[in-house]
Amino acid sequence: MLGVDFVPCFRTGEGIAEVEAPATLVAASDDPALVAAQQKMDELRARYEREAPHEQFATPHAFRNLVWGDGAVCARLMFIGEAPGADEDRTGVPFVGRAGQLLDKMILAMGLAREEVYIANVLKTRPPNNATPTVEEARLCAPYLYEQIEIIAPEVIVTLGLPASRLMLDSTETMGRLRGHWAEFVSPGLGGIKVAVMPTYHPAFLLRSYTPENRKKIWSDLQMVMARLRGEG
Ligand code: URA
Repeated sequence: MLGVDFVPCFRTGEGIAEVEAPATLVAASDDPALVAAQQKMDELRARYEREAPHEQFATPHAFRNLVWGDGAVCARLMFIGEAPGADEDRTGVPFVGRAGQLLDKMILAMGLAREEVYIANVLKTRPPNNATPTVEEARLCAPYLYEQIEIIAPEVIVTLGLPASRLMLDSTETMGRLRGHWAEFVSPGLGGIKVAVMPTYHPAFLLRSYTPENRKKIWSDLQMVMARLRGEG
């Protein structure tokens, strides 16, 4: 196991091999629980498309593709970002642009593969000019995100950046205060599940400010997540 002072280089993947991976994070693909979860997820997506909450946004989103989510529907670890950007809008897959490539390296540095986790966003459509989601937009889309969480029932959620962290923790605090501390999300739906939440900086912020301090803070947050998934946190 790495020392707490170790800061992996997310750009090169340096140090990946040294990370002790948590036990397998996903079920086999023919697991009936997985099949049922995938069916519920497909139904939820179809309902979102019918109800189209984005049509109530004050500023319309002229998106190309809905960006619903990606990964294992029975994942023990879920990441929640902000909203799709241009690359995600083009492909319909979350976190595939530069920030996504850095997120992939962060996941690899945790000893995991992207396919083992689930990745979603607060908003499913690309805001014009990549604007930060408004509180109202987040409020309109939150019920669908909460249902995604209920279907996946992850043990840990990592919120990436301020909009996701504030929504999931119902907080108005700064990222500097929220990150690095465990919080709890209690889903408001019938499932009423409780999930541990670790807020951390958005990879786009790290790309803009790729300092040893920021890398170290994110790595420290992710190490807490890894410890928890190993049953040590
Ligand atoms: N940033 C996000 O928050 N989500 C994406 O899907 C891509 C970039």
